[in-house]
Amino acid sequence: MTSPERCLLIIFGASGDLTKRKLIPALYDLFRQQLLPRNFAVLGISRTNYSDQTFRDQMMKDLKEFAGKITLEKETLQEFIKLLYYQSIDTKAPEDYALLKSRLQEVDVERQISGNYIFYLATPPSMYEVIASSLAAQGLHKQSKNIGWKRIVVEKPFGYDLESAIQLNKKLQRFFNEDQIYRIDHYLGKETVQNTLAFRFANGIFEPLWNRNYVHHVEVTAVEHIGVENRGGYYDHSGALRDMVQNHLLQIVGLIAMESPSLYDADSVRNETIKVFESLRPIGPEEVAQQVVRGQYVASTIRGQKAAGYREEPNVAPDSRTETFVAMKFFIDNWRWGGVPFFIRTGKRMPTRVTEIVIHFKKTPHRIFRSQYTSYSAGNQLIIRIQPDEGILLKFGMKKPGAGFEIREVNMDFHYSDLSDVYLPDAYERLLLDCMLGDATLYARADAVEACWNFVAPILRAWKENPDNKIYGYPAGTWGPVEARNLFTDPDEDWRQPCKNLSDDGIYCEL
Ligand code: BG6
Repeated sequence: MTSPERCLLIIFGASGDLTKRKLIPALYDLFRQQLLPRNFAVLGISRTNYSDQTFRDQMMKDLKEFAGKITLEKETLQEFIKLLYYQSIDTKAPEDYALLKSRLQEVDVERQISGNYIFYLATPPSMYEVIASSLAAQGLHKQSKNIGWKRIVVEKPFGYDLESAIQLNKKLQRFFNEDQIYRIDHYLGKETVQNTLAFRFANGIFEPLWNRNYVHHVEVTAVEHIGVENRGGYYDHSGALRDMVQNHLLQIVGLIAMESPSLYDADSVRNETIKVFESLRPIGPEEVAQQVVRGQYVASTIRGQKAAGYREEPNVAPDSRTETFVAMKFFIDNWRWGGVPFFIRTGKRMPTRVTEIVIHFKKTPHRIFRSQYTSYSAGNQLIIRIQPDEGILLKFGMKKPGAGFEIREVNMDFHYSDLSDVYLPDAYERLLLDCMLGDATLYARADAVEACWNFVAPILRAWKENPDNKIYGYPAGTWGPVEARNLFTDPDEDWRQPCKNLSDDGIYCEL
């Protein structure tokens, strides 16, 4: 692997949640694996009045709390923490950026960085414009061989709707070139999401089946058992469609549905996924009610514990009509997928946390064993499990040993946990490292973000303009409104009921 060039990572919002929960643990783990450049430092920026030392102490404390599975080695930790610096400024005040610039130069000299900077915006989106323009006012966006490269990383949500996303792209592009802008979609950084590409394009046997001739429908699920927790203030203005569908779920669809890129590089891969987004058949206002089901969790009891309804959560309006669940059916109008329905769903307060892709293959054209007692309906399923129990499972029918010809469904499965020395790094590790390497393959490009907003825009509009568009309540801890099942036209079809363990499914599994 090539190692990144020397660089300085400037984190705006350094006293916030993302920094302590994701960015610092990811950076520490990269450091532990010696994947960071030798000349590297982090400059934390926010209003909180830390010194370098108090920031280091705080990050050390947070690391211990949020390291999760990452191994904390005492000496490595001591070395890592010395890479952290801090500067307090009022990010909203353009005049404070002169101070930032001089601090940058100081750290740059001390660590011999040579002007390669990554500006990471871990702040609320309302700050993006003022940060970008204030950096530019100080000339901190300029790059050249002599003064080093400059990159800017923007967290989600990227815009609130199509118009605001276009505006945000324009604002950023006034100061930074597209190849300097890295839009995070942390799902793209997940090891198992990347493996979808390897699975499709490094194996010869699946690709011939990956089209309308063999695939009956595709199902993508990304659900969580947690509710909105302490994020009610943000979530109540967002909802599941904006929070999960417009970005994470559609990006996954892009990878499943794309044609083979000519190469694995940022332009080739993203040139293919944009074609998928542009081929999504628009859902017209009158189709929204038939193709999209939205829901909101209501109070219930989950395994003996009372669970609050969404409207009772902190910072949520008591009469909120924000959806915490979305299920939808849509089509991709191109030669590969013409006529194949895609079903996607996401929700909070579901029975378990699971993200998976299910390719449902067409049934055999003729069922010769139909006169025998058999529970198997002859539709093979390929399940790509993104999380948890990451792996791949193929369901197929086999003859139950013994008399007669009963066909039973069995599993053939691969679990990452079976690999010796398994290590699935957090998405942020991969994404931070890729940005340092200047590889934007796993970052969303401006046109893709806009195309995805363009697809969800009529749904948002229909919900807003037509209050009759129902929002169904579902008890917390269940699979969402029963109406989601009506998206399937065939009465034999339904959503899969995945369990925590990849090999189990159905209503009676351990959740
Ligand atoms: C975030 C959403 O982008 O993704 C959250 O804002 C959601 O609402 C989270 O909980 C899910 O991410 P993961 O990696 O836990 O599946």
